[in-house]
Amino acid sequence: MTTLPPGPTGPLPRFPANFLWGVSTSAHQIEGAAADDGRGPSSWDAFAAEPGRIKDGSNASVACDHYRRYPEDVALLKELGVGAYRFSVSWSRVLPEGAGAVNKAGLDFYDRLVDALCEAGVRPVPTLFHWDTPLALERAGGWLERDTAHRFAEYAEVVAARLGDRVGRWITLNEPAELTLLGHALGEHAPGRRLLFDALPVAHHQLLAHGLAVEVLRDRGSGSIGIANSHGPTWAASESAGDRAAADFYDLLLNRLFADPLLLGTYPEGIAELLPGPVEDDLRLISQPLDWYGVNYYQPTRVGAPDPSVPADFAGITIPPELPFSVHRVDGFPRTAFDWPVVPPALLELLVGFKERYGDRLPPVVVTENGCSYEGLDDQDRIRFLDGHLRALHDAMDEGVDVRGYFVWSLLDNWEWAEGYAQRFGLVHVDFDTLERTPKASFGWLRDALRAQR
Ligand code: NOJ
Repeated sequence: MTTLPPGPTGPLPRFPANFLWGVSTSAHQIEGAAADDGRGPSSWDAFAAEPGRIKDGSNASVACDHYRRYPEDVALLKELGVGAYRFSVSWSRVLPEGAGAVNKAGLDFYDRLVDALCEAGVRPVPTLFHWDTPLALERAGGWLERDTAHRFAEYAEVVAARLGDRVGRWITLNEPAELTLLGHALGEHAPGRRLLFDALPVAHHQLLAHGLAVEVLRDRGSGSIGIANSHGPTWAASESAGDRAAADFYDLLLNRLFADPLLLGTYPEGIAELLPGPVEDDLRLISQPLDWYGVNYYQPTRVGAPDPSVPADFAGITIPPELPFSVHRVDGFPRTAFDWPVVPPALLELLVGFKERYGDRLPPVVVTENGCSYEGLDDQDRIRFLDGHLRALHDAMDEGVDVRGYFVWSLLDNWEWAEGYAQRFGLVHVDFDTLERTPKASFGWLRDALRAQR
């Protein structure tokens, strides 16, 4: 494996001794074995089967074959020296119909994985839901139905009952914003609905599912609980009132719509009226105190008033003309292979802004995802990306934000949703023909950086 000299600008600053270092993955993106051992289909299996949905026409039925190769992947985690591994549990592997009969073989897989992690000295951090809704529930209306939140709580109970003796840290949901916006408002992700603002119940039902699952986990006394929400600063395209108002609205959709109910127990102004039924009781459940708050950060967004001269295509996502904003390119920064701008100081801005907005209501923060897509084994750009973001994170801690951990997305190159296998986010290269794993230069860099922290 490659050993590199210290980071591009020297050794990283020192993080606290109990800082949690980890890497993240998700079930649908790595497991494969889509029809093995009784797994039921998910919304993403059905979506990928629809022609034209996935850029390279692929699906995740094999992906990294982690379902079979997990011992090799756990060995990589051990070699990397991370203290924790964030993975997700596939709901339809555990409950093939989404509710009702439990698939013992599916649950056994997570049992083996957790045992292997514990044996390797890596703490398991399961996410209960990372977008792969059981197809049976999807067909019954999915997250547009309030009922799905209750089915989720039952599923959480099944998983916690089996893994709770060894899992000390849980994540309820991953990025409910993306499932709402990309999956239900814009139709770019499963289940491919284009409901625009009629997608808002999907946000509320996921938040309710989170609240119900927190109750389940608390009742079992099952460890510390967080959520992984995607957040990023929104920058106005100009100082004009129209651009500032549009940017503020976009910020509401991406950031406040999810963080306010969780941390303040309220929806931002104007949102509650668009939701089904009175939500006060739900908000009490949704805003139960969390032990920590997970932030997935990738990039800032520049937003302006609707403007037909701004290209509607934004990093592969089409912004419909009916929306009250336009999304502009964030120029002037290096870009990843996915064409996302690389802006480490925006992570500092985001975290300091969160502390300002939420004050004492913000629990300790864990960065549950941060990473980038680049080609090649000698991925010096990824090293620069991680180095820059870790320095920005340290700056945020110096400015008083209580950050307790950092997880790189991702351990392995994997199936990047509608992008298929084209975008490679891994510290470890995966050859999708042979499934061979090869650590990249960034893997060696992170391993050495973590050793230097000890
Ligand atoms: C966030 C999602 O949680 C993850 O599934 C995805 O692969 C990364 N972002 C990169 O796009």
